Amino acid sequence: MSTTQTNGGQPNGKLAVVIMAAGKGTRLKSRRPKVLHAIGGKPLLSHVIAAASRIVTPPDIIVVIGHQAERVREAVQASGVRFVEQIEQRGTGHAIQCAREAIAPYENILVLSGDVPLIRPETIEAVWSFHQSEQAAMTILTAAPENPTGYGRIVRTSPGSPEVQAIVEQKALTPEQQSIREINSGIYAFKTAPLLRHLDMLTTDNAHGELYLTDMAGLLRTAGEQVLAVQAAEAAEVLGANTIAELVALDATLRAATANRLMASGVTIFRPDTCVIDAEVEVAPDTIIEPFVQLLGNTRIGSDCFIRSYSVIENCTLGDGVLVNQGCIMNDSTVADGAKLGPYARLRPGSEIGEDAHIGNFVETKKTRVGKGAKANHLTYLGDAEIGAGTNVGAGVITCNYDGVHKHKTTIGEGVFVGSDATLVAPVTIADGAYIGAGSCITKDVPAGALALGRARQETKEGWVAERRTRQKKQD
Ligand code: UD1
Ligand code: CA
Repeated sequence: MSTTQTNGGQPNGKLAVVIMAAGKGTRLKSRRPKVLHAIGGKPLLSHVIAAASRIVTPPDIIVVIGHQAERVREAVQASGVRFVEQIEQRGTGHAIQCAREAIAPYENILVLSGDVPLIRPETIEAVWSFHQSEQAAMTILTAAPENPTGYGRIVRTSPGSPEVQAIVEQKALTPEQQSIREINSGIYAFKTAPLLRHLDMLTTDNAHGELYLTDMAGLLRTAGEQVLAVQAAEAAEVLGANTIAELVALDATLRAATANRLMASGVTIFRPDTCVIDAEVEVAPDTIIEPFVQLLGNTRIGSDCFIRSYSVIENCTLGDGVLVNQGCIMNDSTVADGAKLGPYARLRPGSEIGEDAHIGNFVETKKTRVGKGAKANHLTYLGDAEIGAGTNVGAGVITCNYDGVHKHKTTIGEGVFVGSDATLVAPVTIADGAYIGAGSCITKDVPAGALALGRARQETKEGWVAERRTRQKKQD
């Protein structure tokens, strides 16, 4: 199929996109509405809206909602699309009947299905331009997948003809029609006037007792209108998600495409089939990703990074040359060039790790800024803290940021040495170059260059063990 330029998203009264998203998704056996099930980390409907937004601007996108309408509306309304409600879901034809007023001002509409998420804007555009150039009343996007079972089948007027006689749903196929491999993708272009003229002629005379939009093909054809099919080169992008197994298969297809895109741009991903990378993740060339890594949401990774196995990175920005050792869990944080993390570091939201800083094993940070070259290498909690450049935070150090009611800040200057196992009771400030003795409980500010000790003085009793033994023997 040839591709053409989009119109750059200019609004016009010529074309609206209608996305059918009111169905329950009974076959998923899920309480969540089908179109809110996610693949590639994003709801099905959001994928379809993103594709549609490349053809027209969001106010010209009409989403038909019904089952759990409020939940669906809330999930996607930030995109700026319009909604119409289909209170009772009486089929795809009924969905379009419910959008009647919304589509009337437009010369043409494109109909997309909320559960066919891999559709590419280029393909929608190709349907639209074919529809326009042929001046058809209805253009159906079709495909020929290996296994057409479950889909509506395309009956052409004669073999090889672009004209369609009818769409026949799976349950109504005659024995001869069973062998038709060409399926209906559920994606169509319509000239609005003939569509509206015939919309009330749909009947519920079928296996599900629903109003099928697919019957419009036969109705228009019988009325002497032109009904055409255009076949997608790749069936993969028009496959629907009616069951969890189909949904998971689409997720795998999408993630493979994402991994391939990154690899084509110079990123090494070992065993990409084991990695979970969301569609919008960006990674710069020469970064290496080991097996079983998850890169989620709005994550950006620089070049020359090394992301080791079992790390899960969500909504994070990493600079260049960052080493993420095995098993790091990171959310909503930033990491500057050359920093080293893990193994088993946990960056909670609001962590800002500075250039060349080290956050080692079993170190947890939250809403904490770690300065350039600072180190916290072992078993530490840093919450609501600011740590200056070149400071060393010893093993087992804890910022006590919570007094049971409020959170407080710990400020540590540059070049500070915090001895192991110190507890820093916030709010507290430790100025530049200070030393904190190991095992101290620090409750008061420490001035620059000072040594602070807050622990019991050691007492040593020489010969105590032998004396005790003698005492015990006498007692026995
Ligand atoms: C539909 C087509 C079938 C096609 C397939 C492609 C019909 C009758 N059949 O079947 O020919 O091969 O898509 O994927 O159209 N929806 C509503 N309101 C409703 C019913 C459905 O908005 O009352 C929405 C659903 O949320 C879904 C879309 O329409 O996003 C398609 O509905 P679905 O029930 O999945 O149709 P299929 O059985 O897959
Ligand atoms: Ca479907």
